[in-house]
Formats: sequence, C-alpha cells, structure tokens
Amino acid sequence: MRNGDFAVNNRFLRACRREPADRVPVWFMRQAGRYDPEYRQIRETYTLLDICREPELCARVTRMPVDKLGVDAAILFSDIMVPVGAMGMSFSLQENVGPVMEHPLRAEEDVASLRVFEPEEALPYVLATIRHLAKALPVPLIGFAGGPFTLASYMIEGGPSRDYVHTKTLMLARPDLWDRLMSKLSQAMARYLRAQIQAGASAVQIFDSWVGSLSVHAFRVRVKPHVQRMMADLADLRVPVIYFGVHTGELLADFADTGATVVGVDWRTPLDRARQRVGTSVALQGNLDPVSLFAPPEVLRREVETVLELGTQSPGYIFNLGHGVKPSTDLAQLQRVVEWVHAFDPANSPY
Ligand code: CP3
Repeated sequence: MRNGDFAVNNRFLRACRREPADRVPVWFMRQAGRYDPEYRQIRETYTLLDICREPELCARVTRMPVDKLGVDAAILFSDIMVPVGAMGMSFSLQENVGPVMEHPLRAEEDVASLRVFEPEEALPYVLATIRHLAKALPVPLIGFAGGPFTLASYMIEGGPSRDYVHTKTLMLARPDLWDRLMSKLSQAMARYLRAQIQAGASAVQIFDSWVGSLSVHAFRVRVKPHVQRMMADLADLRVPVIYFGVHTGELLADFADTGATVVGVDWRTPLDRARQRVGTSVALQGNLDPVSLFAPPEVLRREVETVLELGTQSPGYIFNLGHGVKPSTDLAQLQRVVEWVHAFDPANSPY
C-alpha cells in the first residue's frame, strides 16, 4: 500500500485479513485524548465537537498518537454521537459524564422523525478530515461509527446508564418500534461508514460498546440481524470491519457470525478462549486491561506478554486494549507497550 511517494505500514491491514505480518500490529482505542498534554492544551481552546468540525485541526489530533506512540493505525478523531446530531437529535458531551441528550427518545414520533442523513451533506467536515488524512498518514486510517444498540441506549436513556432500563423496556414492550429504530440506525451508520471508506478510510470499527448488557437471546433476536445487514451493506467495499463491545464474552460466537472481519475482545475473556468461540474465519483484536497501564513497567511488561502469547496462537491478531485508554494514563507507558509489542517474536512464544 502506498500514499503518494511513500509506502504505508500495512501490518494492521494484513493482520485484519489473517495474513502473516512482519510484527504484531498495535493501536489503542481512544489513542487521541486527555492522557496527552498536547491534546489537553488544544481542549482549553476548542470543545471536542469544535475539533471534529475543523478538518485541519481534527487531522492533526488524529495523527498525534501515530507520531508520539508509533502505533500501526490511526483512528479518526470524532465521537459516536456526531452522526446522532445529523439524525436530528441534539446532545451535549459533558466532561467526565459522556453524552447527554436534550430530549430522550421514547415515543413512536421520535423514531419517525429520525433522519437517515446523506453523509456528504450532513457531515462534510468528517469526510474532509478523512480526505486530508488519507493523503498524508504513514499508517492506515480507521473510520468508525457507533453500533445500533449503543447509539439507541444513549438516545433512549438520555445519557450514560448502568442497567439500560428504558432501552430494554422499549425493546421488550415495543419490539416493532425497536426494530424500526434499529433499522434506521443501522442503515444510517452503514451509509456513514461507506462514505468514510470512499473518502479514504482503510478499515472501520463499529463501537457497540454497551451491547454486552444484553442476553445472548436478546442480542440474537433484536440486534444481530441489524448488525449483519450493516456488514452486508459494506461487503462490496472489501475493507476490514471490526465489531467491538465490552462484556461480550458470551456473545463472541455471534459476533463472529455477523460478517465482521475482526472481533474486538475486552480484557475479561482470555484470547485463547475468545478464539475457541469465534472460530478461524475472523481476526481478533484486544485485550489488555486499560488499568494495567497504571502498573509499574516490569509488571505491565508481563501483562503485555501474556496477552501477546495468547493472541498470537492463531493467525489474525491485532494488539489493543480491552477498552479505551483512561484519561490519566502516562503517555510513556503507552510508548513502552508499542515498543514491546513490536519487539515480540511470535516464533519464540512458549505456547
Ligand atoms: O479512539 C480515538 O482516539 C478516537 C476518538 C473517539 C472519541 N470517542 C473521542 C472522545 C472515539 C472512537 C469515541 C467513541 C465513543 N464515544 C464511544 C465508543 C468507545 C468506548 O469508549 O466505548 C463512546 C461510548 C462514546 C461516548 C462518549 N464520548 C463518552 C463515554 C465520552 C467520555 C466522557 C468523559 O468526559 O469521560 C465521550 C467524550 C469523548 N469522546 C472524549 C474523547 C477523547 C473525552 C475527552 C474530551 O472531552 O476531550
């Protein structure tokens, strides 16, 4: 793969396709953010949404972890809530809380009024950022969108939630309305991801972070068909699609069956067990506990090696955390992890 005159590091894309790579590829969910003093400084002047709407600045923020950490992929700097605004629901992002909706979605009319928007019209700045980046990055760019359950949970609860009472109640009491909502969300996000790929993203990740709150049965009946349709809608573009959530140990076999190219795993499920559940047709991504980054370096190193040893037992493995980088993480710890992952020789794994 080349970007103009220079070769792009493609070990991430090779691992997504379960092809051999020269090193285990590594990137971090939430790799651009508050752990980086330069990001915190930018945030003194700009809100998160200001950054997203300013393609040059957004491209700079997206690129910062590539230059500082040496990761093998960049992830577009944005938020899963950005397209929720484009669907017609107002929200704010509150510091240390997360997204808060102006009016939670509860009624039939609220679902009917959601717009399946045209990405080039509604979110031109996102696509401009991607075009800007695609020409200049030395690594592949990952685009992303929220998964339909996770977006629905913010829309319906009105903000972050512990038990998703309103969301699950709507799913149980009004399966017809729930399915209409899931259809709209999955259609809108598939279109949005398609536009990101056409603008230059080399892979995409669907963050269905909170879908692990469902039973296997509820996932299969009420969410999985919609995720399968998203995957089918994107299949002709032939780029890797990563599907991720936390607390998904029991859902992993179903995750692999959605059509995803890569399944993201949180730290609760060891990667060898995850592999037994997903089979051999997908790659795996994960799953260092983000809290391990607060341990002394020698302890962290052992944690990283344990993850690497389990992950590299089968072809198709991308090192990542089991969830996002925590805001108070020390940047030097992330740099060490990248160095150790790149130094790891799967041939010498004791397994
Ligand atoms: O990974 C990256 O570096 C790309 C940027 C990115 C952000 N949000 C920027 C952001 C990505 C991929 C997201 C996805 C996202 N947003 C998810 C899915 C991933 C996950 O963590 O499960 C979710 C659930 C959201 C919703 C959201 N937005 C939350 C829970 C928060 C945190 C609130 C807080 O203050 O702790 C946000 C705000 C947000 N989005 C920040 C960043 C860097 C926080 C920092 C800031 O306000 O500058």
